[in-house]
Amino acid sequence: MLSEPLVSVVMGSSSDRGVMEHCLKTLDEFTIPYEVRILSAHRMPEATLKYARNLAKRGVKVVVAGAGRAAHLPGAIAANTTLPVIGIPLSSPPLEGLDALYSILQMPTGVPVACMAIGKVGAKNAAIMAAQILSLESSKIEEKLRNYKVRLARGEK
Ligand code: RP5
Repeated sequence: MLSEPLVSVVMGSSSDRGVMEHCLKTLDEFTIPYEVRILSAHRMPEATLKYARNLAKRGVKVVVAGAGRAAHLPGAIAANTTLPVIGIPLSSPPLEGLDALYSILQMPTGVPVACMAIGKVGAKNAAIMAAQILSLESSKIEEKLRNYKVRLARGEK
């Protein structure tokens, strides 16, 4: 992407990329500039913290973070930025995403993460939620969302 990123898309492992592509594809459909990072709250805690702390001053507006298992990534980012963070629980055996769902959903008071559905649906919805947040300040994105809803009503997804 050539424009400065408005959305940061972060995932805990390269193994998450397949599902997270559904988010990237949807952001592309809304022509929203984004950057992608692989960062782990557990394996790369210092790099994750530094990245989160710099996001707002770089002009990023929304963070989307997908992670599986004990998925602390969205919460660790939310702890270190005032930007809205949208979390996507990703499925992996043996608990198939319930572990990540609870980890992302049950954030303590004061540090919210907007938790999406598990997996592909959540990845797509995270992009739409990011578009909805950005549409508060962008009539172009708002128009694209209105057109998208018309297509949804026709049965297109
Ligand atoms: C999480 O553990 C990642 O987000 C991924 O979903 C899961 C498995 O990661 P790998 O062991 O495949 O790197 O941190």
